[in-house]
Amino acid sequence: MYQRLVAEAIKARNQAYAPYSGFRVGAALLGGDKIYSGCNIENISFGATCCAERVAIFKAVSEGIRDLKVIAVASDSLGTTFPCGICLQVMTEFNIKKVIVSDGGGGYREYTLDQLLPFTFDDINSS
Ligand code: THU
Repeated sequence: MYQRLVAEAIKARNQAYAPYSGFRVGAALLGGDKIYSGCNIENISFGATCCAERVAIFKAVSEGIRDLKVIAVASDSLGTTFPCGICLQVMTEFNIKKVIVSDGGGGYREYTLDQLLPFTFDDINSS
């Protein structure tokens, strides 16, 4: 079902700018009725690096798309690469419900965002 999205994430991985880690990541996000791709973009000041997932999400949101449905991630790893905590928090902000992680060999696994980030920070008014 998510083969196409996974294929787009693998394709996006080719654009990765990862001279420091050598670890390439691609993401593909279904937002509205279009696919937004992203790759990791590193910086010599390491903290300025942006993950592939956030690049894809920010591309969609900056084009006025807020109806973000599902995101696929593909890395160079032979195992599965799960999104980092910051990216999961950003996915929560835009209510992305599903995360597809590629296994590097064309297969993938599906997770809900609740499974990956069950106790998200979502209330700044409770104290
Ligand atoms: N990275 C991503 O792009 N997405 C992830 O889900 C995990 C990590 C990137 C950040 C950095 O460029 C490289 O992978 C190594 O951490």
